[in-house]
Amino acid sequence: MKQIDLSLYRRIILFTGAGMSAESGVPTYRGKGGVWSRYDYQEYACQAAFERDPEKVLRFHELRRRTVLDCHPHDGHRLIAAMPEVCLITQNIDGMHQRAGSRDVVELHGSLWRLRCERCGAGKEDFGRSYETLRCDCGNWLRPAIVWFGDLLDEAVMHEASELISACDLFVSIGTSGAVWPAAGFPALARRAGAYCIEINPEPSGTISYDLVIREPASKALSRLFDMK
Ligand code: APR
Repeated sequence: MKQIDLSLYRRIILFTGAGMSAESGVPTYRGKGGVWSRYDYQEYACQAAFERDPEKVLRFHELRRRTVLDCHPHDGHRLIAAMPEVCLITQNIDGMHQRAGSRDVVELHGSLWRLRCERCGAGKEDFGRSYETLRCDCGNWLRPAIVWFGDLLDEAVMHEASELISACDLFVSIGTSGAVWPAAGFPALARRAGAYCIEINPEPSGTISYDLVIREPASKALSRLFDMK
């Protein structure tokens, strides 16, 4: 397989989706055994569901947190964490990149490990197997700080990601189906920026025609691509 000499590039973006955590044992959303094939997001992971039954939605996200805590970062996460020169933009909410040591991760869809109050605006980090509390100090239900279907992405996060991708010269998409917008538009943004675009995914995502396509699992492809001994 072609290897990439990172020294040839100045602004490198790694763009990850749920497939990045598949080898850690974290279920992806679509495809066999996907989260949405087992749970209806309209009942468990959207604003209407939360307003209808906040405790049910919070318990579902507590279940997802436990699933993630029973999984661990794999060599691919660690390899990325050892590449300080790259900008990491993820759709994932599992925090696996951070557990592997990555810093300054741009989390497009929020995080399982953050909650916020829609009444008083308070934000809260909570890393346990069970939530410390489901209620804000103001008494309102805490909401998972996650971008659910139908939610708008945080404007500042969207702007940061778009700016980074518009200026990149190497864009590596890893483990995303390209099914959900606006993130699905990022590969085309990288293409317009003139970046060399690589896709790592056993299945085609069909967003753009990549310069290099690697139909392998993330951890294997990353180590071979970046020639990490
Ligand atoms: N290595 C690389 N890619 C993999 C691996 C692997 N080991 N295993 C699976 N994949 C690929 C699949 O082929 C698929 O294309 O990962 C992708 C996972 O796709 P999705 O489950 O749709 O996940 P993602 O693209 O991240 O979903 C985007 O949808 O539900 C929303 O907000 C949620 O962030 C999520 C968004």
